[in-house]
Amino acid sequence: MRTTAIQIQPFDVQSPYLKRAAHVYVQTWKRGEDWALGFFSRQACAPGFVGYVALVDGDVVGMGFGSHSLPGQWWHDKVAARVGAGHPALQAAWVLVELAVLDSWRGMGIGGILHDRLLQAQPCPRTLLSTQVDNARARHMYEQRGWLYLHPGFAFEPGNPPYLVMHKEL
Ligand SMILES: CC(C)(COP(=O)(O)OP(=O)(O)OC[C@H]1O[C@@H](n2cnc3c(N)ncnc32)[C@H](O)[C@@H]1OP(=O)(O)O)[C@@H](O)C(=O)NCCC(=O)NCCS
Repeated sequence: MRTTAIQIQPFDVQSPYLKRAAHVYVQTWKRGEDWALGFFSRQACAPGFVGYVALVDGDVVGMGFGSHSLPGQWWHDKVAARVGAGHPALQAAWVLVELAVLDSWRGMGIGGILHDRLLQAQPCPRTLLSTQVDNARARHMYEQRGWLYLHPGFAFEPGNPPYLVMHKEL
């Protein structure tokens, strides 16, 4: 772990950090800047939105955000179709939508700090997330932090890789 000071700051749809958070997403998942900015701007208006960036020397090196998981939303309905809309884990839940740290800053505790701050700040009694079945690093982080498996993995769209679903009671 490097000893560099890490600063955590909230962001919302108005914040100059939103664009820089979207850039971390672009770097991580190789998506277009415009698409990512639209995605982040829409997500930042969702009910229960909470977002944080991690800064090192003023540069955004990580980000995470989430919002209420509600019936009628694409992700919620996909999960509900697999586990049942009445499943207790889906009631009054907050979904961790994105969490990413720039490649050269991984393994230094930043993802864990962002995760912990997001879960402390989010407003619901339980949380949800999905991640790729083969994402060992993310799975390890979530398992270490008490997340449990809700579904072992399915493709959200035909041809996509399988994503598992996890949940956590707070
Ligand atoms: C997943 C991710 C956010 C973790 O961020 P990070 O800053 O590297 O994570 P940290 O350094 O805080 O480590 C978090 C935990 O992961 C574990 N970990 C770190 N590096 C690991 C590795 N190479 N293999 C397995 N586990 C690892 C550590 O045990 C740590 O647990 P601890 O806090 O109990 O010690 C980051 O790797 C990332 O951005 N990955 C690409 C995007 C992604 O997969 N996002 C999550 C799924 S949507």
